[in-house]
Formats: sequence, C-alpha cells, structure tokens
Amino acid sequence: MEVIIVADADAVGDVAARQIMATLRRRDTPTFGVATGSSPLPVYRALIGAYQHGVVSFTRTHMFLLDEYLGLPPDHPESYLNVIRTALAGHVDLPAGNLHGPDAAHPDVEHACAEYERVIAELGGIDVQLIGIGSDGHIGFNEPTSSLSSRTRIKTLTAQTRHDNARFFASPDEVPVHVITQGIGSILDAGHLVLVASGESKAASIARAVEGPLAAMFPASAIQLHRHATVVIDEAAAGQLTLADYYRDVYANKPAWQQ
Ligand code: F6R
Repeated sequence: MEVIIVADADAVGDVAARQIMATLRRRDTPTFGVATGSSPLPVYRALIGAYQHGVVSFTRTHMFLLDEYLGLPPDHPESYLNVIRTALAGHVDLPAGNLHGPDAAHPDVEHACAEYERVIAELGGIDVQLIGIGSDGHIGFNEPTSSLSSRTRIKTLTAQTRHDNARFFASPDEVPVHVITQGIGSILDAGHLVLVASGESKAASIARAVEGPLAAMFPASAIQLHRHATVVIDEAAAGQLTLADYYRDVYANKPAWQQ
C-alpha cells in the first residue's frame, strides 16, 4: 500500500486524479469505478480541469458507481447516478451510455446485483476504483461486519451512516435505509484502488484502515489485502498515523521509474 500525504483537500484531488489518469491511460477501453460523497469532489474537479485542458478524454471510458440508494425516484438529485452526472460525468466527454449503476428500480434486487457484477465483468473488471471512507469504516456501503469477500448486494445502512449523509437531504428521515453496494470482494477485484480522505474527522478512520488490524468490523481495513492500493490524504487526515513520517520518506525517495 502506498500512502501519500499532501497539504490539503485540493492537493488530494490533484494527486488522486493523476493516479487515476495514469491507470486509465494504460487501457484502450478503461473502466473507472466512481464514488460519491464529499471526499471525491476535489478529484472530480481535477479530472474535469484535465479534460478541459485536453489532458484526458473519457470517450472510451466506462464509469461504474460503487453504490446506489434504494427507494429514491430516478430523478432524485441524491440518487447516485444523478450525483455523479452533476459532479463529473456531465462535465466531460463520457458517452451517456457509458455511465453504469446497479438498477435500483428493478423489482428483483438480487437479479439487479448479479446483473451489475456481470456487466462489470463483461467489460473486463474495474481498472481503477476510487473510494472514500465512512466514519464507521465503511467502504462503498459495506457497513461493519460485512464479509470481506462480499459481492454486490443489498445492505442496510447504520444509524451513523444515515446521520452522516443527512446533510444531503432535506430531513434525516429522507435518507434511505437500504442501498445496493459493490461488496468488499468486488472492490478488491479492481486493478488499482485509490482511497481519498481529508480533514481531521477522517484521521481515526484512516489510521484504522491503514494500520489497524484487518477486521470485518472495520471494512476499510480490507484495503490491506489489495496488491495496488494508493491512499491519498491530507495532513489533517494523516494526524493519527503512527508511521506518517515513514510514508513521507517513502514518497519523497520514490525511484524515478516509479514516479
Ligand atoms: C459513496 C460511498 C461512501 C462514502 C463515505 C464517505 O459512494 O461509497 O463509502 O465514500 O460515506 O463519504 P464522505 O466522502 O462524504 O465523507
């Protein structure tokens, strides 16, 4: 695992966007797993900036949502398909048919989950998956005690997560109780994982994910199992890492061929 510590959230966005673009460039028809929430927004701003400067194009890319609420009408601004359209897809040259999410309106949720995994596999799997981290350690919406080998399925949100996400809704009661999320096993199948976080409120979660014991009680610790995980965080989010100085040294002394 590589841990990159930078000054602030904008720098997190710039560095993570460079990591993502480098991985996408390696494939002719790349696949990019996208997350919602606040943490990825600086990454999306950086990707939109790179697109506007002609540095990157998404015409051959397919984007896949990490998760989706159940029970929201398709035109709801907080449905994650709409959130990603607003934050990223609607500002770049991604063909409309290349944005994929689980079919949250399908009457058979299990079928929708299996079908989502099938489409991802058909396109060769996810090349690079961007993730944030929840205050209870969730990645995607894999709440504590999620199986470390879980696949895409329905999950019930914890009271903590519904409370954390209430800021996006008119009232806390409007936050859906159920979601479809890629499983931890599905997330670990991605070729490259890029986890982003910024701010002091993420410091405890980042320390447990990077340095804590591997445990289903803290799903983000599963990134320790991945062969190519990059954690991009700001100084505040790095505040509780025991080996922060070591990670800075590793990054500062990276051999030129690895840059
Ligand atoms: C969103 C998602 C969640 C968020 C997490 C952190 O698609 O899967 O795991 O990444 O809840 O959210 P923020 O970044 O808003 O703190």
